[in-house]
Amino acid sequence: MAYSHPLNTTKIFFVLSAMSIFFITITIADEHNFSESLSPKEHGLKREKLSHLHFYFHDIVSGKNPTAVRVAEAKMTNKSATGFGAMLMMDDPLTEGPEPSSKLVGRAQGIYASASQTELGLLMVLNYVFVEGKYNGSTLSILGRNSVFSSVREMPVVGGTGMFRFARGYAQAKTHKLELTGDAVVEYNVYVFHY
Ligand SMILES: *[C@@H]1O[C@H](CO)[C@@H](O)[C@H](O)[C@H]1NC(C)=O
Ligand SMILES: *[C@@H]1O[C@H](CO)[C@@H](O)[C@H](O)[C@H]1NC(C)=O
Repeated sequence: MAYSHPLNTTKIFFVLSAMSIFFITITIADEHNFSESLSPKEHGLKREKLSHLHFYFHDIVSGKNPTAVRVAEAKMTNKSATGFGAMLMMDDPLTEGPEPSSKLVGRAQGIYASASQTELGLLMVLNYVFVEGKYNGSTLSILGRNSVFSSVREMPVVGGTGMFRFARGYAQAKTHKLELTGDAVVEYNVYVFHY
């Protein structure tokens, strides 16, 4: 008798309506996508290029206007033959040629730190920020090991911005000039895949 009661039909209708509201809510929630697949072409990524950059890095630690300053050290750093634990913050100019007066193409901004107790092995964590031509404002990020007394050191390029979005590659460093003061000019060849 209860099943045929008109009031119960109304109740069933309300239950069904409530359920459809529930499903509509789920559909609306789904429109806030956390992730989606994109077509690289439609995202402006048409052809991956390989670029070679060549510049000189000026690391000035002496004098009144150093471009790299010590910001931290350990108690035992002075006693370590490799200066283990010393950490420097740099804002080093990058120029087209080896002379300091040569055209500025960018800056190397970041940290280098003595990370080896047995040789001069630096941890390099830095960004190159370029100021020249089409690369103006674009950056490349470097994270690597720099064994300063090896003739050629290689460090990975782990990413980039602007012209260097999706960058990957490597940087090769070769000391061009090392003064007794510790000031150095380093030649860099950077090979980088980007779009
Ligand atoms: C470490 O070197 C600095 C400057 O070169 C000096 O002032 C300091 O006294 C030294 N510390 C030790 C523990 O030798
Ligand atoms: C690089 O970009 C900055 C900021 O947009 C601008 O002021 C500067 O003139 C540009 N330099 C070159 C060489 O294009």
